[in-house]
Amino acid sequence: MQHQQKILILDFGSQYTQLIARRIRESKVYSEIQPHNYPLSKIKADRPHGIILSGGPMSVYDNNSPTMSDEIFELGIPILGLCYGLQLIAKKFNGIVEPANDREYGKANIEIISDDVLFNGVDNNSIVWMSHGDYVNNLPKDFIVTSRTKNSPICSFGYTEKKLYGLQFHPEVAHTQFGKKIIENFLFDLCNCNQDWSPKNFIKSSINEIKDKVKDKKVICALSGGVDSSVAAVLMNRAIGNQLICIHVDTGLMRKNESSEIINMFQSNYKLHLISVDASSMFLEKLKNVSDPELKRKIIGTTFIEIFENEANKFSNVDFLVQGTLYPDVIESVSVKGESATIKTHHNVGGLPEKMKLKLIEPFRELFKDEVREIGKDLGLSDNFLKRHPFPGPGLAVRVLGDVTKERLDLLRDADDLFIKELISSGIYDNIWQAFAVLLPVQTVGVMGDSRTYENVLALRAVTSTDGMTADWFKFDYDFLENISNKIIRSVRGINRIVYDISSKPPSTIEWE
Ligand code: XMP
Repeated sequence: MQHQQKILILDFGSQYTQLIARRIRESKVYSEIQPHNYPLSKIKADRPHGIILSGGPMSVYDNNSPTMSDEIFELGIPILGLCYGLQLIAKKFNGIVEPANDREYGKANIEIISDDVLFNGVDNNSIVWMSHGDYVNNLPKDFIVTSRTKNSPICSFGYTEKKLYGLQFHPEVAHTQFGKKIIENFLFDLCNCNQDWSPKNFIKSSINEIKDKVKDKKVICALSGGVDSSVAAVLMNRAIGNQLICIHVDTGLMRKNESSEIINMFQSNYKLHLISVDASSMFLEKLKNVSDPELKRKIIGTTFIEIFENEANKFSNVDFLVQGTLYPDVIESVSVKGESATIKTHHNVGGLPEKMKLKLIEPFRELFKDEVREIGKDLGLSDNFLKRHPFPGPGLAVRVLGDVTKERLDLLRDADDLFIKELISSGIYDNIWQAFAVLLPVQTVGVMGDSRTYENVLALRAVTSTDGMTADWFKFDYDFLENISNKIIRSVRGINRIVYDISSKPPSTIEWE
């Protein structure tokens, strides 16, 4: 197999590290982020075409400031330090880094003062994005200054023979006028990369890696029907066929017809080895009279693991569990750990690998959602499927507020289905990050025909967001709201009032429980 070329990004904690990876992959070169202390032996084994040292919040002179193995400078691989990365290189080669009198945040005018491959095709004067408190005051020996700004007389430097480069500014940030060009100069002129990163190539090289790893063992997968785990399952199936066993647990908390649609789609289009378990009565039984949101989440999480484990144990030779973890999930779970309070206990199959002593396969650990969608598309999944809104693990149990019963779930399912269909037929579904209905534990008085009604209130929620971490409520036009309100009240018996949720996150959350 041809080696997948890659650029290794060592992460020193910058808020922009993900952006560096994105920019590189937008130029069709594969890039991977690893922690700053990624072992030298692994770097050597990875054979990257280039290494980027990211920015970071600390000063290189702080106690315990993050660093990396000095031996990377002896590998002969081009290295580019950005901001903190540049300061690290300066310090390692005995330059002097000092706190700046005037910290630079935001846009700055840069002037290129000597020829440098990194600046090929870049105007002599342009705008860059700065975000730093320290600056290089004294250049290390053998390095040359290649650009300056008003407050950073050494704004970039290079040491051509050693292929070492540093930029004080952030080329990965869109405000840097020639940022893309500078990154591409590094990739193509200094690292000699080919543009070989594409979904097709990713699929090809992952299939080989998966085969190598799994050999003749079996892999299990919890197929909920979510985009990430579905794409992971299809990819695994391409690699190892029926050695992959997918288990779909119907919790009874899914949306209208969802379970049967998922099973049909995967069995008829992909011939997956798929076992489906109808556990709806078990979930309902365990959720009886439970209205506390955290307790609901915990019950659902442990019940799910119990059922899944029970099914998986029917097979021997199972060594691996595949999960559709994405890069933002990895980052979030790292940064969310520690001091911060638990807002909601997220349910996924997180507890499974330890409990069942399984090794994890996470083919998308380095990727972003839109990249996984592209891979899914290449694997033949439909656009409609790939663009579906996220759905929480605990399902409709956190959207039926208060007690969860079959009747209330069915009521919600009907209303939610009308809402989603209306969004699709109005052509606005794709403009919304997530939309759903919530059944409130409140009854109100109404009048239908000549009769008094005393029925349920339904809330509609629709938000825009890029990652679910923050969100804003979607601004429907009044005609849409009027129309959907009438439609639901007329056709779903048991609902006589609709309200629209106009809170943003924070301070609210997207789900109500
Ligand atoms: P909140 O309600 O915390 O939700 O603003 C943020 C995003 O996460 C989804 N969500 C979950 N996803 N398991 C999941 O996989 C869960 O337990 C869970 N709870 C919330 C929510 O739908 C939104 O997209």
